[in-house]
Amino acid sequence: MSTAFWHPFADMSKVKDAPFTIVGGEGCHVTDDQGNRYLDATASLWYMNVGHGRQEIIDAIARQGKELAAYSTFGDVSNRPVEQLAERLSKLAPSEGSKVIFVGGGGEAVDTASKLARRYFATLGQPERRYILHRHHGYHGTNGYGTSLAGIEANRTGFGDLIRETREVPYDDAEALEAAIVEIGEENVAAFIVEPVIGAGGVYPPPPGYLETIATICERHGILLIIDSVICGFGRLGTYFAAERFGIQPDLITFAKGVTSGYLPLGGVIASEKIARPFFDGPNAPTFRHGPTYAGHPLCCAAALANLDILDRESLIERGADLEKQLFETLLSATRTSSIVSDTRGGVGLLGAVELSQDYLTANPTGVVQLQNEMRREGVLVRSLIGCVAVSPPLTISLNEIEQIGAAFSNALHRLEHH
Ligand SMILES: Cc1ncc(COP(=O)(O)O)c(C=O)c1O
Repeated sequence: MSTAFWHPFADMSKVKDAPFTIVGGEGCHVTDDQGNRYLDATASLWYMNVGHGRQEIIDAIARQGKELAAYSTFGDVSNRPVEQLAERLSKLAPSEGSKVIFVGGGGEAVDTASKLARRYFATLGQPERRYILHRHHGYHGTNGYGTSLAGIEANRTGFGDLIRETREVPYDDAEALEAAIVEIGEENVAAFIVEPVIGAGGVYPPPPGYLETIATICERHGILLIIDSVICGFGRLGTYFAAERFGIQPDLITFAKGVTSGYLPLGGVIASEKIARPFFDGPNAPTFRHGPTYAGHPLCCAAALANLDILDRESLIERGADLEKQLFETLLSATRTSSIVSDTRGGVGLLGAVELSQDYLTANPTGVVQLQNEMRREGVLVRSLIGCVAVSPPLTISLNEIEQIGAAFSNALHRLEHH
């Protein structure tokens, strides 16, 4: 009998009889159902920023559950945790007077920001501003908008057109962005969506000056800048929303993952004062008729508040930048002499990737999964992506544990090379 659970992003023909079942987590480690212990070098799916097993977050969820486990926030209804969390995130946001929309995760946040960009311009009497531009290699989730904004072709393939008014630009070329805007006509473009460091597309840090330049280009053409900080937020790049690191003030910021460290699902959008104003002011302010059932769920917001307390108290936000050099250098030295590695990326934030060479992957099409499995044998969990494996450990990782990731890569690559 194969499993009834259809896993996301999985080759179910292989996974159906051999799921890798995780049963426990503590700090930077998890345990499987066979009793094996692993260093979680990916912080689950880029989100377990404070580490596993934080009783404080579980207690906060339980306390809130005893008071009010769930209630809608549609219309004029609110609850205490959502109000506190919105206030706190608004104060932390890079621009003053920001408003916060809550949804269930990153993909919903991307849908929300994209729809809000279009709705904003429709409100200003410019409904033709509908195009959202995005970058090659970018990943923005698997909802409708996220699929159409994917810079990973495989994630768009097989679905037909979802949202037509999108355009891909190179991930590292600001001039190409400007050329695309001119070609489409700025009067037709609503927004440009950008991951500060591209994550699931293979960990591509921005070229020096790129983010600052595209922010200026967007401003010059009256186009909204959406910074997708779903991975890069809450310490991964050493700041709360990643935009601060580059001194830019986006119109919209999407967040998820690290806001609760994944203890409960939560995502959202920070809208700058400029974007929110038409919806908040005046007798004829339009309604943004958008929002999922679980927007502002009190348990998820209580988890986020407790998570933010930990990030704050343990100075974990800064740690994402404090450890970035150490992680990158460790990856570089572990992979430098390997004949099957074509690139090792990282250095901006606590995340990195090891890319296997095209020659090796042509001869071994499953090479990336093999590397992931060899790392598992070494007791280290990494994540296979297209052409590379990625690491993004909890912000609580120690220097010794970073060394352990490096040693595991040396051994795993050595075995694959000599297989
Ligand atoms: C940059 C980015 N945006 C959006 C998403 C989608 O988030 P979710 O999977 O919570 O829908 C992800 C998920 O990895 C992401 O990395």
